[in-house]
Amino acid sequence: MKIVTIGRGTVGGGLAGLWRDAGHEVQELGRDGGDVSEADAVLVAVPGAKISESLSRVTGIEGKIAIDATNIMPARHGSFPSYAEEVKSFTHAPVAKSFNMNFGALYGEVRKQRVRPGNWYVADEGAVGVTERLIRDAGYDPVRVGDLSRARAFEDAVWLLMGIQPAGGVFYRTAVPGEL
Ligand SMILES: NC(=O)c1ccc[n+]([C@@H]2O[C@H](COP(=O)([O-])OP(=O)(O)OC[C@H]3O[C@@H](n4cnc5c(N)ncnc54)[C@H](OP(=O)(O)O)[C@@H]3O)[C@@H](O)[C@H]2O)c1
Repeated sequence: MKIVTIGRGTVGGGLAGLWRDAGHEVQELGRDGGDVSEADAVLVAVPGAKISESLSRVTGIEGKIAIDATNIMPARHGSFPSYAEEVKSFTHAPVAKSFNMNFGALYGEVRKQRVRPGNWYVADEGAVGVTERLIRDAGYDPVRVGDLSRARAFEDAVWLLMGIQPAGGVFYRTAVPGEL
């Protein structure tokens, strides 16, 4: 796939590397923006308070499937129901919220684990296929926990992860009975 990451820091740059390893063609944009018209999917990985500012510098984003990885740390900003819906106000296309519940500092460890770490996400139906593929290609197992109407609650639930104390972050995984 052709992927453009909007943001090329810990999350954008880190996922770009994992996706290239999986064979995707990935372009990374910084705060100056750029054009995404050739992309099959875009990742939004900029500071949560800078989503509209960043996306207003990106051309060709209308109609693109987007994965929004932003989170509300240190505090929610703006008046959209959720950051994912702020992204959707630019794309007018299916959106997923994913990778906001996974530690960027651990990307290099994902493929070294005994079992694949989990990646919780919420998404519009039309974004599920692309999102699950890109979650798997980054080395995680996707777990859809709702549709995009859950985005705000999902964003607010980041404290669940931040409340776990080990320095450097943690992986998580859900299991059906018999799997553990
Ligand atoms: N780090 C994590 O573990 C983690 C995990 C889950 C979710 N998140 C969320 O993912 C998003 C990106 O986090 P990150 O850790 O990748 O951040 P980061 O390393 O600081 O990278 C931020 C990226 O956003 C771009 N950007 C665009 N507009 C910006 C502005 N006005 N001010 C600052 N940067 C701007 C930067 O552009 P330039 O390259 O031009 O500087 C940079 O590429 C955030 O919403 C964060 O809360 C982070």
